Amino acid sequence: ELSPIDKAKFVAAKRAVEFVEDGMRVGLGTGSTAAWMVRCLGELVREHGLRVTGIPTSTRTAELARNVGIKVVSLDEAKWLDLTIDGADEFDGDLNLIKGGGGALLQEKIVATASDQMVVIADAAKGVDTLGAFPLPVEVIPFGWQTSKALIEEMVASLDVMGSQTALRMNGDTPYITDEGNYIIDLHLKRIGNARQLAMVLNQVPGVVENGLFIDICDRVVIGYGDGRVETRD
Ligand code: A5P
Repeated sequence: ELSPIDKAKFVAAKRAVEFVEDGMRVGLGTGSTAAWMVRCLGELVREHGLRVTGIPTSTRTAELARNVGIKVVSLDEAKWLDLTIDGADEFDGDLNLIKGGGGALLQEKIVATASDQMVVIADAAKGVDTLGAFPLPVEVIPFGWQTSKALIEEMVASLDVMGSQTALRMNGDTPYITDEGNYIIDLHLKRIGNARQLAMVLNQVPGVVENGLFIDICDRVVIGYGDGRVETRD
């Protein structure tokens, strides 16, 4: 028996794989919701003979996809994707997102951008009026990360945001390391007034590789509820 939150994630994932058609190249997101989607897709492959090629957004997802029977190739082999299905940490009314709570924002953004369509799957609690309550992840290279962090704080303080606390993401006693060998700085902003502007400004800071704001990338959100209902917004 699933908990309400897992049920919400599962029903959203189950609905989203209905968008996958035979022969498609599908971007596979990262996180607990995306993991449900990979399992659902694997079932369609194994039991219904669906032919799909999966392009994973993390080493975690690549391993899970192979384990459930999905053929996996790299983005460079696939070149262009029909569809990406991924989770998110927050989505707003314009379908802009915060992603990267699971640390895979860089590959996730590259893969989603290389796709004709991006479908996000989420439980209803992730819907917000204004992005920012969830700490915004920013991926930086390890070299000079403290300088990048200080520059980010300075940049952010001059923008339409609430709060400017930043924290290096840790994994126990050592910095969390992304699949690309980078660090993540989480920005505690509470409320992001102009997400488009913030996303552009952050990527100007030397050492910043990418940020977790997904602006105009998501086409549709499939929202799951704990009682099993599903709602789609596009
Ligand atoms: C991974 O890097 C993130 O972008 C995830 O998509 C996000 O953190 C959602 O994860 P859950 O589905 O586990 O909430």
